[in-house]
Amino acid sequence: MNEPRLPAISIRHLSHRFGRFDVLRDVSFDVHQGEIFGFIGPNGAGKTTTIRVLATLLEPMAGRVKVLGHDVTLEPELVRKHIGYMPDHAGVYDRVTVREYLEFFADAYKVPTAGSSYAVVDASMELTDLTRLSDKIVSTMSKGMKQRLQLARVLLHDPKVLILDEPASDLDPRARIEIRDLLMELRAMGKTVLLSSHILTELADVVTSVAIMERGRIIVAGPIGEISEALDRQRRGVGTARQPQAPSAASPANPGPAIDPTQAPAPNLNSFVPAAPEPERVVERSVKLRVLAPFERVSAILTDLPFVTSVRLGSMATIQVTFAGDDRAVAMMVRSLVLAELSVVSVEPERNELERIFLEATRGDLQ
Ligand SMILES: Nc1ncnc2c1ncn2[C@@H]1O[C@H](COP(=O)(O)OP(=O)(O)O)[C@@H](O)[C@H]1O
Ligand SMILES: [Mg+2]
Repeated sequence: MNEPRLPAISIRHLSHRFGRFDVLRDVSFDVHQGEIFGFIGPNGAGKTTTIRVLATLLEPMAGRVKVLGHDVTLEPELVRKHIGYMPDHAGVYDRVTVREYLEFFADAYKVPTAGSSYAVVDASMELTDLTRLSDKIVSTMSKGMKQRLQLARVLLHDPKVLILDEPASDLDPRARIEIRDLLMELRAMGKTVLLSSHILTELADVVTSVAIMERGRIIVAGPIGEISEALDRQRRGVGTARQPQAPSAASPANPGPAIDPTQAPAPNLNSFVPAAPEPERVVERSVKLRVLAPFERVSAILTDLPFVTSVRLGSMATIQVTFAGDDRAVAMMVRSLVLAELSVVSVEPERNELERIFLEATRGDLQ
């Protein structure tokens, strides 16, 4: 059997207070290797405090925090070797060029360089698309470019785990897209990324797992697909109520979603008359379709399907279909349209999964 891989980050029962104020309350979650992990919550939730503990800048008052198996309190030096930490609102030295800035940090990090060639600086600039700008004075760069320079800096020592505090805040849409592309590239290189955000949508399409934090507590954590399924089961009345749960000690390598999907209600063995099976409360969902055909034709085909509850014209020439079912229902819709020789251009969920999780798992005070 394969050894379960060490989690990139493991946080267990982390608590912290500033004065009499409980900032972190029993925070537990894992970030597995190779993930882009979104740490999401409103301003003041406790994200930066958690990240500062991970970055060995703040000693936790209670709990255990490990990076690739190394305890942040007991082995901070080793942790620092493995992480690349980008603080929020970090400044950069202004009156140097991009290359000078990176060479300075390569020296400060004692990154091995072959003579004066600084191969790591070149690689780092290449990756962050800064090569063209290597002679540019930092003070003349846009926010997005400065952010990329920060990323280039944290990549110099080739860390395995990147910890980025609000990397996309304050960026214009283009710079945000570039950062997202870069994150995916880093993931493809085998790095693990934890990034925090108080804005949901800026992360929605790159993160593979999330932890949602409110008032110092984790509300839900785990891979997006698993949380969605757990929420669906819960809405059908199979799962338990919304309940944050620390990963169980029995399976430390795979804590799964914090909402426990496994607890089905026990069958009622006392009744003599077999009860009629409860009709399953099926979850309603919506998808947006784009089809190269008149609305009426599409609508006629879809409304014939038993699980479709409404079909209407949506924005931007899309057709919005509400249905009761899961992905198989969506596949069936596409199949019916294709069999009628209509060209289906795209199928998108009405909300992406992260937004759905958010709305269902939080009390509504997140942005
Ligand atoms: N050094 C500090 N001293 C006192 N309170 C702090 C300190 N740092 C953060 N806080 C408070 O802790 C709470 C969580 O802050 P923070 O971790 O920065 O949240 P987030 O990053 O999610 O916005 C906030 O209420 C903040 O005011
Ligand atoms: Mg913060």
